[in-house]
Amino acid sequence: MAVCIDGKALAAEIKENLKTDVRNFTERFGRQITLAVVLVGNNPASEVYVRNKVKAAEFVGIKSLSFTLPENSEESDVTELIKNLSDDKSVDGILVQLPLPKHLSEDKILSLIPPEKDVDGFTAYNVGNSTLFKDAIVSCTPMGIMYMLNSIPVPLCGKNAVVIGRSNIVGKPVSMLLLKENCTVTICHSKTANIKEITKQADVLVVAIGKPKFVTADMVKDGAVVIDVGINRTESGLCGDVDFDAVKDKASYISPVPGGVGPMTIAMLMKNAYLCALRRENA
Ligand SMILES: NC(=O)c1ccc[n+]([C@@H]2O[C@H](COP(=O)([O-])OP(=O)(O)OC[C@H]3O[C@@H](n4cnc5c(N)ncnc54)[C@H](OP(=O)(O)O)[C@@H]3O)[C@@H](O)[C@H]2O)c1
Repeated sequence: MAVCIDGKALAAEIKENLKTDVRNFTERFGRQITLAVVLVGNNPASEVYVRNKVKAAEFVGIKSLSFTLPENSEESDVTELIKNLSDDKSVDGILVQLPLPKHLSEDKILSLIPPEKDVDGFTAYNVGNSTLFKDAIVSCTPMGIMYMLNSIPVPLCGKNAVVIGRSNIVGKPVSMLLLKENCTVTICHSKTANIKEITKQADVLVVAIGKPKFVTADMVKDGAVVIDVGINRTESGLCGDVDFDAVKDKASYISPVPGGVGPMTIAMLMKNAYLCALRRENA
């Protein structure tokens, strides 16, 4: 029976420690750390995410500025806002909640965020530097996953890691972080043949596809560490991409949904906002 990797508890600990760091920052530099959160449209899931991020910022002592633009906003409305926030010296971090409405170019809008205010680590500069294993702001979900993996007594060096999903926000960056930790990494996606044969070789399995209970017990190696990134809203409530009840009897460690990667992502966002503020003070 697997041990549960409790993301909620780890995130609470990280946020509690950040409270002190943020308080020390305010005392040292005589100003509050400020995070700008931009939401375009009324996607209900995005509204929940933004609310939780603002709540977490409040908890750790980071000031948040919320900007909500209507669904039918022109691209120029959004780019102008981002440019203003980029120029605003009191703003340490800019977060644009994704996905944006279809008529807006995510690439164009994200590219306007200055790398030093890129709290989500989505800009090409930060993704590039992170991939080069150089100093960078790393995106929050992959960083949260690595924190969870580093919280358990299983060394990553030399392990076979399999990542299912190759998105820019989870699959690709977490694969690079696992590689940096000296794992041998295989990335699977929707065109991967014989996926089960690959996942069965995984000492560490990270699943980020958005398909409820896709990973079944027969796809998992005995004793594997399984991290479930998926958030799926089904008739019976929230569930992950892993069939938790079946896989927990096979894995050595497993992260639950809810209460796993989700809270870690928000804690890491707060950490990134703090790190952005420190960098901007050259501290
Ligand atoms: N907990 C958190 O904080 C957090 C953060 C971000 C995302 N998520 C959740 O994580 C999940 C993935 O998010 P995402 O943004 O990475 O998703 P995404 O951009 O939709 O990408 C999904 C990936 O899964 C692959 N895929 C889809 N069906 C597959 C299949 N049957 N077999 C193998 N691979 C398959 C896709 O392959 P192709 O590239 O070939 O299409 C793609 O690479 C979602 O449930 C999302 O809500 C959670």
